[in-house]
Amino acid sequence: MANAHDLLDAGERLDPKALRDLQLERLRASLRHAYAHVPFYRAAFDKAGLHPDDCRSLADLARFPFTVKADLRENYPYGMFAVPRERIRRLHASSGTTGRPTVVGYTDNDLSLWADMVARSIRAAGGRPGDTVHVAYGYGLFTGGLGAHYGAERLGCTVIPASGGMTARQVHLIQDLEPGVIMVTPSYMLTLLDEFERQGVDPRSTSLRVGIFGAEPWTEEMRREIEERFAIDAVDIYGLSEVVGPGVAQECVETKDGLHVWEDHFYPEVVDPLTGEVLPDGEEGELVFTSLTKEAMPVIRYRTRDLTRLLPGTARAFRRIEKITGRSDDMVILRGVNLFPTQIEEIVLRTPGVAPHFQLRLTREGRLDALTVRAEARAGATPEQRDAAALTIAAAVKDGTGLTVGVEIVEPESLERSVGKIRRIVDLRPR
Ligand code: DLL
Repeated sequence: MANAHDLLDAGERLDPKALRDLQLERLRASLRHAYAHVPFYRAAFDKAGLHPDDCRSLADLARFPFTVKADLRENYPYGMFAVPRERIRRLHASSGTTGRPTVVGYTDNDLSLWADMVARSIRAAGGRPGDTVHVAYGYGLFTGGLGAHYGAERLGCTVIPASGGMTARQVHLIQDLEPGVIMVTPSYMLTLLDEFERQGVDPRSTSLRVGIFGAEPWTEEMRREIEERFAIDAVDIYGLSEVVGPGVAQECVETKDGLHVWEDHFYPEVVDPLTGEVLPDGEEGELVFTSLTKEAMPVIRYRTRDLTRLLPGTARAFRRIEKITGRSDDMVILRGVNLFPTQIEEIVLRTPGVAPHFQLRLTREGRLDALTVRAEARAGATPEQRDAAALTIAAAVKDGTGLTVGVEIVEPESLERSVGKIRRIVDLRPR
């Protein structure tokens, strides 16, 4: 078998100096492209008194204005496109929960680049040409299914386009078709786990070796749970539709230490979410992306709302992002304390007697907001074990955040299961 380095593509082999040179050349071209073809960018750069030629170094990018989700909404559906409509080969739309969706478009070259980046991601995760890849991300306007699909084909894999849902059938397919790789949200992987058990099939006995999980935040505790219960390697894939879809950054299976950003195509910055100031590598803030090679819909300094930090490369020369702790939108502010669902996930998953399923309920009592953690008992847990679990969770939350929260241990199988991206927060506060 080829050694791992022989499998790297030309972009992954660039040395740091060559990478910076390539990034600058591409960045300048991307700024020019956006300025020349998207009225929104022309107006924004003009207003800031900047021309693409003012970008002479990578650091100069910080002088250019940000783009936010509302800008894409306001230019719905086609206002952010930089090429004539007949060159658009595919449309996707983001999973907007509020207001209008945002539409993204791809040229032939964009689709090809995307497939290359997902192929690179699957390879970094430990997939190889000839592998069979079970894709249980949803197919459709969501970028997960089709993004994974074409990437796996590009790598030379056999694809099982299962999409999300029909969980019993997914288990049959995995047993019969023997995929080595599965691509799915981590929360839906847990739904599959329940179904394996319901069917009396040992989840550790399948052909699966690698799971590539993303589209939602998940913790090291969740990684451990999935790896142990399925006897697979679980690695993280990141992306967002506005930038391309899955395959913007990927964790390497040999290190599992955060996600390498494919920064020969997607240039990352981390900024202070309040002031917008660029933070040095290593400091936590909001992740911002500039596309370097996209044609149909270039994005310049797009604010993801995802919180993380940039770290030096390890298994690849590209910089890494730390596993995402959460989005600023998912942050609950309770009595002045910021709380992310991932903090509760860590606690629930290490508490004996409860299953890895939980929900956060926000209510208002008088003028104060209250949070109740609802966690599911493991089948067979005794009343004493349930009580102990409730106390453990409440104490751990208090310990970690200083917050007093309610904890309810609910019956096994009673919380809604994920078929894709899970929603952890149920907000019952009056508007
Ligand atoms: O979720 C693309 C994707 C599909 C990524 C499949 C990975 C796998 P959107 O629907 O536009 O695109 O949602 C993007 O999801 O800004 C993050 O908040 C979140 N997200 C995506 N991947 C991760 C991850 C797809 N690995 C939004 N960890 C992003 C944490 C993630 N959050």
